[in-house]
Order: sequence, then C-alpha cells, then structure tokens
Amino acid sequence: MTYVAPNSVQARDIASIVHPQTNLVQHLELGPMVIGRGDGCRIYDDNGTEYIDAAAGLWCASLGYASERLARVAYEQMRKLGYYHLYRGTTNEPGVDLAEKLLSIAPVPMSKVLFQCSGSEANDTALKLVWYYHHAIGKPEKRKIIGRSMGYHGSTSASISASGKPDMHADFGLPFPGFLHTDYPHYYRHHVDGESEEQFATRLADSLEQLILREGPETCAAFIAEPVMGAGGGLTPPRTYWEKIQAVIRKYDMLFIADEVICGFGRTGNMWGSQTYDLKPDMISSAKALSAGMQPISATIINQRVFDAMLDESRKLGNFAHGYTYAGHPVTTAVAMETLRIYDEMDMIGHVQRVGPYLQSAIGKFADHPLVGEVRGVGLMTGIEMVADKTTRAQFSPARKVGATVDKHARANGLITRFVGDRIAFSPPLIITEEEIDQVAERLGKALDATWAELRAQ
Ligand SMILES: Cc1ncc(COP(=O)(O)O)c(C=O)c1O
Repeated sequence: MTYVAPNSVQARDIASIVHPQTNLVQHLELGPMVIGRGDGCRIYDDNGTEYIDAAAGLWCASLGYASERLARVAYEQMRKLGYYHLYRGTTNEPGVDLAEKLLSIAPVPMSKVLFQCSGSEANDTALKLVWYYHHAIGKPEKRKIIGRSMGYHGSTSASISASGKPDMHADFGLPFPGFLHTDYPHYYRHHVDGESEEQFATRLADSLEQLILREGPETCAAFIAEPVMGAGGGLTPPRTYWEKIQAVIRKYDMLFIADEVICGFGRTGNMWGSQTYDLKPDMISSAKALSAGMQPISATIINQRVFDAMLDESRKLGNFAHGYTYAGHPVTTAVAMETLRIYDEMDMIGHVQRVGPYLQSAIGKFADHPLVGEVRGVGLMTGIEMVADKTTRAQFSPARKVGATVDKHARANGLITRFVGDRIAFSPPLIITEEEIDQVAERLGKALDATWAELRAQ
C-alpha cells in the first residue's frame, strides 16, 4: 500500500473520482499520478519529476501541453460569444470557418460536417447515419455494422459495440446485436509460416467476404475501421490490405466509415491516414489532434451520397432529429481552426515526414533487443511487441504482464508510453524533435533492459 498523505490531491482523488480504463481496486491502494503541468512534449508530476510523453496523452496533444496562442483564441472567443448552439438553423462564424476548412482538406470529395465533442460521439453519429441512410434509400434491413477484432472506436454504447475489444464489452452486455467483427490485420502475429503480406491481406479480405455472405449481404450496412489501429497497439496494415478490403465493401454496397480519430491531421505523414493508404470513405470521424487535444471537439465528415439521403429524410420527417448541446461550440471550433492554422504555418505535415523516419529508425534499432519481436510503424506512430521467443514469435503468458512491466520501468526512467498487452505504441506530440526522439530511445532502452533483467531474475 502506497502512503497517501491526508488531504493531498491523491487522497482527494481517491475519495472523489472514478477513473476510465483503471483498476479501481488497485487505484484505491496506489492512488493517482498527479500531473501538475506540461510544456512541449514534457509533463511534470506534482513533485516536479519530468517525463517525455511519447503517447501525446491519448494520441491527441499534437502541439504539446501548453499554448499561449490557443489560450488567447479561447479567451477572446469566450469574451465575444462563449456559447451558442447549431440547433434549429442557428450558426456562428467559427463553426462555419472550421467546417469549410475541413471540407477543403478532406482526402476525398466530401459534402458536410457534423460536430460533436469526442471521437466516440463522432463514430456514434456516423453509425446512426448509416442506419438513417439505408432507411432513406429503401433498404431498412441493411443494418449490420462490421468492425474488426481489436479495433477501437470509442466508449459510447454503439461505438464500443463496433469496437472489437472483449475486455471493454465484458459485463456491460455488449456488443449490441448486429455488430460483427472481422479479423484484424496484424501480419506479424497472425500470418502463417511462409505467407506473404499480400497473401495474408487476401486471406483477410476473403474472411470479410465470407462473414458478409454468412450474414446476408442485404443485411450488412457498413464497415468501420481505423487506417492504422491505435488502441490495438499501433498496428499498420500489411501491403495490399486496404485495396482488397475496400473492394469487398464496394462489392456488397456497404458504407465505409474511416475512423481517423488518431490518424487524422498528420500522424501518418499525410493529413489523413486515408491518404497514406488510399482509402475512399463515405464518412470520416475526426477528433483529438483536430484541436491539439486542447478542446473537446470532433467532426464527422460525410459525402454527398449520405447527405442526399438525409435531405430525403427531412422531406419525409420534417426534421433531422439528432444533435448535441455542445456540437459546434464556438470556443471549441475557434481553437480547432487556430490549431489547423498552426499546422499550416509550421508545415506540420512536412515536419512529420522529416522526423517520422527518424523515429522509425530510433525505435527500429530495438528489433535486436532480446525482448522485442516486432517493430513497425508509419509517420509518427510505431508499435513494438515483446515476445518470449523471437524465432517462434511465442508470446509471454499474460500473467507475466510484460507490457505493464516495460511501462513501469519507462516511467521510472521519465518516459510515458502506451501499452496494450505486450505491445507498446508510440505516438509522440507531432512537434517532437530529433533530439527528443533520441531521449525517448535512450529511456526506452533502459526500460527494456530493466524488464529483461527482471524477467530473467524471476
Ligand atoms: C480510433 C479511435 N476512435 C475513437 C476513439 C474515441 O475517442 P474519444 O475518447 O474522444 O471518445 C479513440 C480514442 O482513443 C480512438 O483511438
């Protein structure tokens, strides 16, 4: 049991907050890590201990942890119009500016933008629009949503149903009926001996097609996927995967939702993951780096086909009966717009294209480490997988908690990472420099060595 001083922030936290994605029993004993402040890619705990955050918080703090410029925009907007909504045809200029900007940079021709406050809500909106669309075009039986095992699309009831995370379904009675999950494209873990990336991709596309045929194509409404799987552990798709999967989606006239919540705004070295992998979605969910994580905002971007169907529904029903109080909140849209201006001025995409290969090579060097089976990434995201046997790819028993152990030693060495089982994903703030990447690699090296030593001593 860790000592927690009475009346400290830790003690008050334990007495008052339920934390997401946290073992609540353990939390009562260990208490929280208190983050006091941030600056650039670094955060500082309440003792002043410094950490490089190689996870950008939750993949979102693209510009780091403090911004005078964004603070000023929020302040000015709060003085001018601190709240208004978009209901019943009202609007405000910051929302219009942002919607126009998003349409101008969308990876495929798009028609309109719907605003929400989170990635979960962006996907929830997209899923509702799938059902609405098929109703409008006279195919109301086309309702099934296909996601992927290990995919993550958020925590609302529908977006977690679309996600393929059994641990997040357990005892919530989810997923809802009508949410299906196909194989996920982790070549290293799931290819059979002698199978090339292309053959593996063909097998996964065949498996998706078989699922659709088993369920009945007339009932399959949409496919939802992240260009690169973030919460699955930073999994980049094998060669030819996306062209084969998209051919199946098109063949059965399903809508395609690209969940760009973590890939959007530069992470993969292009503005969108859809550009990196040549995706042609009907809807795009975006959030996180949209406002550099500094305001809760998300945007669902839809194409003309979807919007035309929505118009038909308004002709029939008289109203688009969907919305959120804070959708298009002027402070969030003003800050997001300024964030996108900053990206343009800094040439953020160019920066990621320059430092991304440096990150891949700095982390890639750990492929030689006795613990590491795979290192693979794109742009400023990469994942490493720890294995018990490098030759056979055999995994550690989950009871050994190898990912958690690396994370513990990383923290002890001033490095924040994101572990998923025995994988560690890296997604540092997009402003990271080569010098800071060297520091990440140095601290990671110490964490891996300490874990290796601990495992051998067991
Ligand atoms: C791909 C993806 N989609 C959706 C979400 C959910 O976003 P939020 O936590 O803002 O609801 C996440 C969160 O990590 C994500 O990684």
